Amino acid sequence: MATNTIVVLGAGVSGLTTAYLLSKDISNSITVVAKHMPGDYDIEYASPWAGANYLPYVLQGVGKANSSHARWERNTWPALKELAEKHPEAGIHFQDTVVYNRKKDQGSATGNWFSELVEKEPWYKDVVPDFHNIPEDQLAPGIDNASKFTSVCINTAIYLPWLIGQCRKTGVVFKRGVFKHVADAATAHHSSKKADVVVNCTGLSSRTLGGVCDDKLHPIRGQIVVVRNDPGAMFSISGTDDAEDEITYMMTRAAGGGTIIGGSYQKDQWDPLPDPNLAVRIMKRAIALVPQLVDKGQGIEGLDVIRHGVGLRPFREDGPRIEADKVDGVSVVHNYGHGGFGYQASFGCATEAVELVNGILGQKARTKL
Ligand SMILES: Cc1cc2nc3c(=O)[nH]c(=O)nc-3n(C[C@H](O)[C@H](O)[C@H](O)COP(=O)(O)OP(=O)(O)OC[C@H]3O[C@@H](n4cnc5c(N)ncnc54)[C@H](O)[C@@H]3O)c2cc1C
Ligand SMILES: *[C@@H]1O[C@H](CO)[C@@H](O)[C@H](O)[C@H]1NC(C)=O
Ligand SMILES: *[C@@H]1O[C@H](CO)[C@@H](O)[C@H](O)[C@H]1NC(C)=O
Repeated sequence: MATNTIVVLGAGVSGLTTAYLLSKDISNSITVVAKHMPGDYDIEYASPWAGANYLPYVLQGVGKANSSHARWERNTWPALKELAEKHPEAGIHFQDTVVYNRKKDQGSATGNWFSELVEKEPWYKDVVPDFHNIPEDQLAPGIDNASKFTSVCINTAIYLPWLIGQCRKTGVVFKRGVFKHVADAATAHHSSKKADVVVNCTGLSSRTLGGVCDDKLHPIRGQIVVVRNDPGAMFSISGTDDAEDEITYMMTRAAGGGTIIGGSYQKDQWDPLPDPNLAVRIMKRAIALVPQLVDKGQGIEGLDVIRHGVGLRPFREDGPRIEADKVDGVSVVHNYGHGGFGYQASFGCATEAVELVNGILGQKARTKL
């Protein structure tokens, strides 16, 4: 019997994963309301633009093995692994991934992002399969060290709709809606009963949403090129010689999703339009790093471009906000601010958001007795 009314605000990977986990409890009746839904491509909607892969991430200074960040990503790997192994319809596959490091990138924006990733013994070495360091004598000039492991690549155009399908199977209702204030969301449940809990998964928009204006949120702009070429594995490197906030990485999405080539890591830049000069640098760097991306001897004319894109990573100083709150008498659970790791931390973060929801629902049940 569905007795708990829950509204989830936002249909990015954070909102959909939270709704999916909540929907496994049959006593929950859930409405997901969002301005953007899977199928939309908009600068206010980060999730479709992501690669997306599992490349353990580190917030400067808080990325160590016992941090909450590592916990979220550690707890997400088994779920993504199971989807890749047993649910081909989810659009996730395994791929070898190679991470290159240049010592000179230490301290730059991208070097900080990669700092734990390129450690000799990073916290995730026993989480992902086949982790090993690549022997120095196998490294190309300019690369100081490198590691290799098995990761996953998610085709977001298949995976986000798959999450919706899983939710719809158990009766979750999806609607479009734009809310100026979190308290308004409480009246959006499809039963027209007031929601017991609102879950706030609005990503970067939480910066301006009434009742929660969070100035710790910043966009980190990521520009990408999607191509039909296939390099055969995922590659990334800690930095470039072009700019401190540019980077080179590539990954091939499952099920014919094409190869995403990145990229950039531009803090506080909001420009939704692809910069054509940056696009050329992205393509040139990708070929320099992984020559097999194109036929022998070819330059960027050897890339078969599907589209160019820009997404804004919803970065939050201090890390994502996964927290219970009360706004104008409405119980709210926040789950936003996942920067460049929304997929690889999705199940870990959503599980903790669900625990907070259950705590609020448990209190409600006790007051009724
Ligand atoms: C180029 C790029 C590459 C990336 N690569 C990776 C990667 O490889 N691996 C990885 O794990 N992550 C990656 N990320 C990060 C990942 O995309 C984000 O962390 C994740 O998508 C954030 O999801 P979200 O659900 O929190 O927010 P979003 O996807 O932005 O969703 C927000 C939702 O809230 C809705 N909303 C907002 N405001 C309102 C409102 N007022 N009323 C109603 N609805 C509202 C929106 O319409 C939308 O549905 C990448 C990001 C970019 C840009
Ligand atoms: C790679 O170099 C970095 C410094 O940039 C160092 O911290 C790290 O331990 C090295 N990793 C390996 C695998 O040697
Ligand atoms: C979600 O959180 C943001 C950031 O604190 C806030 O601005 C917004 O009002 C919240 N939305 C809801 C529905 O609580």
